[in-house]
Amino acid sequence: MRKTSDILWQDAQHQVLFDILDQIKQPDADVTVLLRLKEYTESHFALEELYMARLNYPDLAEHVEAHQRFRGEILELLERGEEFDEVYRQLTATFLTEWLKRHVFGTDKKLEAFLLASGTH
Ligand SMILES: [Fe+2]
Ligand SMILES: [Fe+2]
Repeated sequence: MRKTSDILWQDAQHQVLFDILDQIKQPDADVTVLLRLKEYTESHFALEELYMARLNYPDLAEHVEAHQRFRGEILELLERGEEFDEVYRQLTATFLTEWLKRHVFGTDKKLEAFLLASGTH
């Protein structure tokens, strides 16, 4: 994935998330890769949410709501783990990748600008 942010930790974490989503598309992927996605997503979202809370980010509620939707999607996928076959995997990875791209280049860009302007990142 191309650079997503001028904030090092934010970009590095986004790159890992996109890598994990690529791994889901691999033929040997199993449900453990979804668990990794869940864990890594959680730590990334938690860090963004911590910054937003600490700095009284004005769009905090809206941003957290977007994160909640993604958390929900992943939980739903994990619940359907037994259907983790080739077709399902491809659809899942494509859907999540598109969602993440929109989030990273939309909602997260606003947060990036705010953090850069605040000088705290
Ligand atoms: Fe993000
Ligand atoms: Fe975010």
